[in-house]
Amino acid sequence: MNISGMRVLVAGAGGMLGRAIVARLAARGAADVIALKREECDLREQREVREMLARIRPQVVINCAGTGGGILVNTRRPAEFFYDNLLIGTLLLHESWRAGVGNYMAFICGCCYPDKAPSPLREETLWDGYPQVTSAPYAVAKKVAAVQSEAYRRQYGFHSVVLLLGNLYGPGESFDLTESHVIPAFIRRFHEAVRDNLDEVVLWGSGAPVRDFIFVEDAAEAAVIAMEKYDGPEIINISSGDGIAVRELAALIAELSGYLGRLVWDSSRPDGQAQKVYDVTRMERLLGYRPRVSLREGITKTIEWFRDNYAGASERG
Ligand SMILES: NC(=O)c1ccc[n+]([C@@H]2O[C@H](COP(=O)([O-])OP(=O)(O)OC[C@H]3O[C@@H](n4cnc5c(N)ncnc54)[C@H](OP(=O)(O)O)[C@@H]3O)[C@@H](O)[C@H]2O)c1
Repeated sequence: MNISGMRVLVAGAGGMLGRAIVARLAARGAADVIALKREECDLREQREVREMLARIRPQVVINCAGTGGGILVNTRRPAEFFYDNLLIGTLLLHESWRAGVGNYMAFICGCCYPDKAPSPLREETLWDGYPQVTSAPYAVAKKVAAVQSEAYRRQYGFHSVVLLLGNLYGPGESFDLTESHVIPAFIRRFHEAVRDNLDEVVLWGSGAPVRDFIFVEDAAEAAVIAMEKYDGPEIINISSGDGIAVRELAALIAELSGYLGRLVWDSSRPDGQAQKVYDVTRMERLLGYRPRVSLREGITKTIEWFRDNYAGASERG
């Protein structure tokens, strides 16, 4: 499929991934892209979703909408995360099928993997156990979209694809300290330490866990390639496949932020899983894709974006 000639609806276009996908589509020459924001349609409301699709009549729908965040906010808002993601995912896919949309794409996340899944995380192990308990309400709601996608493909022949994204980071992310993921949280902490002349920053955990990150522009490119090249029921991990210890990550962000003080690890805080790296062989085989942006380059761009947008970014909910 050549996406540049299609009428493409990107839902959740105000978010980090949605914005990057809209930009990627523009770079590909797609002329008819509708960047749907929350204020134009509450995707938890079936009537609104149905009317919006009838009005826009997209040929392709890419669903980047959802509610989520880091550990803290998952602990505080599990019911909201379950309800919102379940409804957004279920309604948009169902109504897209009903409206005659040709191709649909949804995203799930690394926390959908079972708590005890061995690393590197292989797609075949996705259904082998319950997700980590803190983020399970969010993760299970997301996984429902994968079951739904496969069911609609099987019964109706609906061209729906699900990609499983690793830890995204990049411009447009939330830098709110109560809600953010590890990279934006570190960027903000070091930025403020430099600003306030601090000589010590205390970080959660031991710093030993190993994680795998993908720059949002790489994830957006993988999504556009998948839309063009792949139409199948297999869920595909989209990530770098490279692990980095949180301690090294912190040192890298400190260096790129110009922070010269000490890093103190508060080991009384939980670490989570020791290692969480994605197996990306399916991504390479089915999409012929490898991410291009190194962690150093991606974090540099993210820091620049954070500095340019500091007030707005740090206040985003
Ligand atoms: N970030 C990650 O590390 C990561 C990893 C794996 C998978 N994912 C998945 O990738 C997708 C995009 O992630 P992201 O990081 O781009 O998220 P994000 O920045 O939080 O963006 C989500 C977007 O969804 C919109 N939205 C939320 N509730 C809505 C509703 N009821 N109706 C309409 N729009 C609504 C938000 O609107 P507002 O801007 O108005 O709030 C926001 O624009 C999500 O499905 C997420 O689960 C993310």
